[in-house]
Amino acid sequence: MNAQRKTLPLELHDVRLMAGDKPVIKDFSCRFDAGAGCSVIIGPNGAGKSLLLKLCHGLIQPDQGRLSWAGGTDPGLRGQHQAMVLQRPVLLRRSVHANVAYALKIKGVTAEEQRRRSDEALALAGLSRYAQRPARLLSFGEQQRLALARAWAVRPELLLLDEPSANLDPAATHLVEDIIREATAQGTKVIMTTHDLHQARRLADEILFLHRGRLKEQGPAAQFFEGPKNDLAQAFLRGELLWWRRRSIYAPDEARKDG
Ligand SMILES: Nc1ncnc2c1ncn2[C@@H]1O[C@H](COP(=O)(O)OP(=O)(O)O)[C@@H](O)[C@H]1O
Ligand SMILES: [Mg+2]
Repeated sequence: MNAQRKTLPLELHDVRLMAGDKPVIKDFSCRFDAGAGCSVIIGPNGAGKSLLLKLCHGLIQPDQGRLSWAGGTDPGLRGQHQAMVLQRPVLLRRSVHANVAYALKIKGVTAEEQRRRSDEALALAGLSRYAQRPARLLSFGEQQRLALARAWAVRPELLLLDEPSANLDPAATHLVEDIIREATAQGTKVIMTTHDLHQARRLADEILFLHRGRLKEQGPAAQFFEGPKNDLAQAFLRGELLWWRRRSIYAPDEARKDG
């Protein structure tokens, strides 16, 4: 873990993002601090969870408002202080082991340390026996685990994960959750999305509940799951908040505002 903080705290100030003429992230302000465990973003399909992560990683820019990383305007990408695993990971046309080792090499890690950390990351992801296999021959679930292992191996200060266990079976999900716990235990800040409320309960220190691009509730996970304050969040936990309901009975105000 780098002693010098380079990307956190990450702050969003009144961020708005448009998709065409439609606002998809609205009046969004929040702050993520260094080493503050795992923040899990939940909300119905299309709420803006993936877009929020891409904003946090500096992959897209807001139309209004601003983001700051450790007080500056640059995300900590160049020094690999932050890493993101996309829902559909992109792997190099190399072996499984080389995918991890290369990520460490470009960070300036010594050859010996590359080997050590790659072995460790692959073991944690349950991929040791595939180390010499071409990465592209792995199953989708294995590729997802490799992408996560690779991102974790560089020991980023901030790790952004978009649905890290979507389409994984229970055993593979377990491995992914172990990596996330290991990362937060070693001081990495994790911000992730999930559609799996059980997973959110297992992993989250903090919950952010999004609905139609707005942050409706943010707070400690235990408090949130005990009883969210927001009525939309309550409906979501009950499984009643349907993403396709244009005029939600739970949010007549919201429906008017968002049109
Ligand atoms: N490139 C894009 N162009 C237009 N609309 C987009 C684009 N990406 C996402 N959207 C829309 O923005 C909203 C939020 O998307 P997303 O962040 O992917 O939602 P989710 O919470 O399911 O991850 C959705 O209504 C989606 O259709
Ligand atoms: Mg998404």
